[in-house]
Amino acid sequence: MRILNLQLRFLVPLVVTLVVAAYIALPVMDRLTLRWFARDLSSRGELVTNALSDSIASDLAAPDDTRLQTVFDRAVKDERLFAIGLCSLDGRLLERTASFPPALDCAQAQGEADRPDPRLKLVGGALHVGVFPVNSDAGTFAKLVVLQDLSFIDRRSEDTRRYLIILIAGLGLTIALITVIVAQLSWRGWVSGVRGLLRGEGLIRPFSGVPEMTPLAEELMARLRDLEDEHRRSLGPQAPWNPERLRALLRTQLRGDQVIVVSNREPYIHEKSDTGVVVRRPASGLVTAVEPVMRACSGTWIAHGSGSADRDVVDANDHVGVPPGKDEYALRRIWMTDEEEKGYYYGFANEGMWPLCHVAHVRPVFRESDWEQYRAINQRFADAVVAEARGDDPIVLVQDYHFALLPAMVRAKLPRATILTFWHIPWPNPESFGICPWRREILRGMLGSTILGFHTQFHCKNFIETVDRYLEARIEHEHSTISFKGEATLVESYPISIEWPSEAASDAWPSIAECRRNVIARLGLPADAVIAVGIDRFDYTKGILERLHAVERLLEKRPEWVGRFVFVQVAAPTRGLLEEYRSFQERIGRVTERINDRFGRPGYQPVHLLAEHHEHDQVNELFRACDVCVVTSLHDGMNLVCKEFVAARDDEQGVLLLSRFAGAAREMTEALIVNPYHVEETADALHEAATMPPAEQRERMASLRMTVRENNVYRWAGHMLVDAGRWRLRERIEARVQRHRGE
Ligand code: G6P
Repeated sequence: MRILNLQLRFLVPLVVTLVVAAYIALPVMDRLTLRWFARDLSSRGELVTNALSDSIASDLAAPDDTRLQTVFDRAVKDERLFAIGLCSLDGRLLERTASFPPALDCAQAQGEADRPDPRLKLVGGALHVGVFPVNSDAGTFAKLVVLQDLSFIDRRSEDTRRYLIILIAGLGLTIALITVIVAQLSWRGWVSGVRGLLRGEGLIRPFSGVPEMTPLAEELMARLRDLEDEHRRSLGPQAPWNPERLRALLRTQLRGDQVIVVSNREPYIHEKSDTGVVVRRPASGLVTAVEPVMRACSGTWIAHGSGSADRDVVDANDHVGVPPGKDEYALRRIWMTDEEEKGYYYGFANEGMWPLCHVAHVRPVFRESDWEQYRAINQRFADAVVAEARGDDPIVLVQDYHFALLPAMVRAKLPRATILTFWHIPWPNPESFGICPWRREILRGMLGSTILGFHTQFHCKNFIETVDRYLEARIEHEHSTISFKGEATLVESYPISIEWPSEAASDAWPSIAECRRNVIARLGLPADAVIAVGIDRFDYTKGILERLHAVERLLEKRPEWVGRFVFVQVAAPTRGLLEEYRSFQERIGRVTERINDRFGRPGYQPVHLLAEHHEHDQVNELFRACDVCVVTSLHDGMNLVCKEFVAARDDEQGVLLLSRFAGAAREMTEALIVNPYHVEETADALHEAATMPPAEQRERMASLRMTVRENNVYRWAGHMLVDAGRWRLRERIEARVQRHRGE
C-alpha cells in the first residue's frame, strides 16, 4: 500500500506535466509546420508562375480564346494546385481556370496574399492564396493568382500531431514504467535490506542480481554494522538491564536472530494428579535464571520431557507453549527411555560430572555404558537443535554439564551458529578433572562453543588450564580465547543472577509481619522465635549437614538460644534414584532427629526439616518471615537462593550467612561470609546474625539489594549476548579481510 502511494505521488505529477507539455507543444508544432509549408507553397507558386510566364506573355501579345485556358487547365491537374487566375496590373481578372472561386477578384486575392497566413476558406477546405508577378525582360506585365490546396497540409499537420501525441504518451509510459520498476526494486531492496540488516544479512540482498555491486554493498554493510555496534556499545552500560533492553539487544546487536535454549531440566513440568494435569516449576537455579531471559527473547527451549503428563499436552512436533496460558515461547520436549535417563542423567551427568566438578568429597563414578548414553542423548538434543533452527546461524544457549558434547555436535551441522554454552556448576582444577576417562572428548565437545561461560574468573582459569593440560590448543590468555582445530572459543565469566521482582509483584506480597505470623502458626514456633532458614535442593553439595552441625554447636555453646532459635530447612527432593543422595537424605533426617531430641522440649523444636518441594510463594513467605538466611554450600557455581532472599527483603532487614565456596560470595560481600567446614565459625556467625542490630542489617541489606538489582539475570544474558554480537562482528571483519587478501 505504502509503495503504491509513493508511486502515485510521483506518477500523478508526471502525467499532469506531460498533458501540459502536449497542450503547449501541439499549437506551436502546428504553427511551425504551417510556416514551413507556406514558404514551400510560395516557392511552388513562383515556380508555376515562372513556368507559365512565357505562355502568358505570348497569349497577351496574340490573344487566343482557348490556348491559355488549355495551359492553365493542364497546370491545375497537379493535385495540390487548385486554381489559377491571371490578373492585369490594374486588377482585372483576365483569365482563370474553372475551379477559380467566382467570388474571388484580383484585389481580394492580393489582400489575402499580403496577410501573414494567406488562406482562403472554402466549403470543402482551405486554399493558400499566392499572387506572383509575371515578368518579361521589360518587367512585370501581369500577376498570377495561384490557389493551392491546403488540405494536405492539414492532413500532414494532423499526422504530425498524432505522432507527437503518441511520442509524448510513449515517453510518459516509459518514464512511468521505469519509475514503477525502480521504485519497486528499490523499495523491496530497502525493506529487505533493513530486514537483512537486522538479521545480519545487510544490504547484500538488494544487489544480489548485480554481482559487480556485491563487494560495495558488503563493504557498506560492514561499515554500517561497525558504526551501529560502536553506537550501541557507547550507550550500553548506562541503562538498567531489563527485558526490554534484552529484547532491544537481540533485535539490534543480533539482528533478531532465533534463540534456542537447550537444557536438561524443563521450565514447566506437567504432572498427572487426582485433580487432573497440574503444572509444576522445578527447583533449579538454572531454570530460575534462564526462564525470564527466554520469556524476553521468545524462541524455543529444548528440554527433557520428564513429567508424567508431558506427552499429553504437546502438539505433533512435541511443542507446548509456555508459560501456561501465556505462550510466550515454545517448549520442545525430548523423550528418553528410563534406561537412557539412567545412563545419561543419573549416571554420567549426576554420578560422574556433578561430583567431578564439585569439590564436595563425593567420588565420581564413571561407567562406559553411562558414557554411551550420554553421547547418544547429546546427539539427540543436537539433532533437535538443527531441526528447530530456522536459519543456518541461530543463537544456541547450551546449559550446563548435561551437554558437554552438544556444542561440537551442533557446530558440525550448523557451522555458522553462535553457540553460547554456560556451565552452571564449578570447573575443577586440571588434576581433579583429569580423572575423567573421557576428559579429551568432553573438552573437544565444549570447544565447539563460540563462547563458554562460567560464573567466576576462577572457574575460567581452571578450564583454560585443563585445556592446556589435555589438548593441543592455542591459548591466548590476553583475550581469554582458546583456538582448537581452527575454531576459537571465548572463555569468559558471567555471574548469573535472578529476575529482580517488579514493583507490581512486590506490592502484592503479604507484609513481613503477616508472613512471620503465618510461618509461626504453620510450624508451631514460639512467638518470639529467631528464625533461620535454609532453602535448597536435597543435595550433598549444599552443606546442609554442616549447617545442622553449626546449629547444634550454637545451642551447645549458647544455651540461651534453646527455646528461641529455630532453624527451618526446606529440602526439595532431587535425584532420589541415586544411592548417594538417598543415604545423604537419610543421614540429614537422623541428624535432625538427634538435635531435636537433644534440645527440643514441649512447644519447641529447634530444627524443622521440610523435605518437600515448595512453590515460589511459599519460599518467598519463608524468606520474608525469617531473621537469617543460611547458605552454606560446600561448593556452588553461584547459588541463587541468597539472591532471592535479598530480593524478598524490601524491608531491608534480615541477615545473609553465606559460604565462601559459593560463587555468590564474590559479589555479595556484605553477607556474613563463612567457611561451612568450620563448624565453630559458622555457629558464631549464626549467633552474630541472630543478634545483629537492625541498623547494621539495614546497611548490609540495602547494599546487597543494590548489587542484585543491578546485576540481575538480564545483565547476565545481556553480557553474553553482547559478547556474542561482538564475536560475530569480529568474525565478519576477519572474513572480509581474508576476502580482500584473496582478491
Ligand atoms: C543445578 C544444576 C542444574 C539443575 C539443578 C537441579 O542447579 O546446575 O542444571 O537443573 O541443579 O537439578 P536437577 O537434576 O533436578 O535438574
